[in-house]
Amino acid sequence: MTRSVDFPLLILAVTALSLSPLLGVAGKFSDDLKPIRREVYGGGKIFDISHRYTPEMPAWESSEGLASFLRLAASMKNGSFANVSEMKLSVHSGTHVDAPGHFIDEYYDAGFDSDSLDLQTLNGPALLVDVPRDKNITAEVMESLHIPRGVRRVLFRTLNTDRRLMFKKEFDSSFAGFMTDGAKWLVENTDIKLVGLDYLSFAAFEESPATHKVILAGRDIIPVEALKLDDVEVGTYSLHCLPLRLVNAEGAPTRCILIK
Ligand SMILES: *[C@@H]1O[C@H](CO)[C@@H](O)[C@H](O)[C@H]1NC(C)=O
Ligand SMILES: *[C@@H]1O[C@H](CO)[C@@H](O)[C@H](O)[C@H]1NC(C)=O
Ligand SMILES: *[C@@H]1O[C@H](CO)[C@@H](O)[C@H](O)[C@H]1NC(C)=O
Repeated sequence: MTRSVDFPLLILAVTALSLSPLLGVAGKFSDDLKPIRREVYGGGKIFDISHRYTPEMPAWESSEGLASFLRLAASMKNGSFANVSEMKLSVHSGTHVDAPGHFIDEYYDAGFDSDSLDLQTLNGPALLVDVPRDKNITAEVMESLHIPRGVRRVLFRTLNTDRRLMFKKEFDSSFAGFMTDGAKWLVENTDIKLVGLDYLSFAAFEESPATHKVILAGRDIIPVEALKLDDVEVGTYSLHCLPLRLVNAEGAPTRCILIK
């Protein structure tokens, strides 16, 4: 039991130490104490392509967004010696990965969860491409993109980014995504092992289960969904995605960045 006491005390001590230069004589914070929130770091080299988790971000088939997914379980204002937040949300919220168990029940039972995903697939050179805005990603569209063999990670920017769908609270089932024949074409004709898209599902709503199954069947392709691909130029980057190690979960929220 001592651990559960030591841990918050340690945090408190570290926080007090690191904040001490900001505290005035009376121990109060200065009025201009504001965090910097950014999309780009390192003087234009590091792009954050993950979305912020907020109550207003869209959630699957909901008109209410994520709503009150986060709450302050213990608060200093109410006498606790630290602020401690708790969250409750679908693992397919915001920027996230799918694990093979998401649409294939045998894989779920066998333990192909978010902890089983290959970090080598999730990290490495990646291509960001723009896809035609007037179609979903069909076999024909895939073929027209001329993605060279050997390319293992591709982020597909679609009409979803132009429509700013991830910034709209209300779920929109008309989002652009892979059709089943496009997914089949990808599996059969490319070396792509990471498929990134810019709304809550990489698969178009209409054919979502079948399309997921095509991509997840081989257990070697990882969909990364709800990426924030605004204001990033088409081209090659180093991609880094680190999903949470949620044992038994068929998906996980993830932070993803691109480095130039
Ligand atoms: C702790 O939570 C309160 C809300 O009860 C908030 O107003 C305050 O800023 C938080 N304090 C710190 C140190 O984060
Ligand atoms: C503090 O406690 C009051 C009374 O129980 C409650 O109404 C309020 O929501 C609490 N505030 C926080 C930030 O936990
Ligand atoms: C993509 O498919 C969805 C249905 O899943 C449809 O509503 C939408 O209009 C299609 N988008 C385009 C650009 O054809």
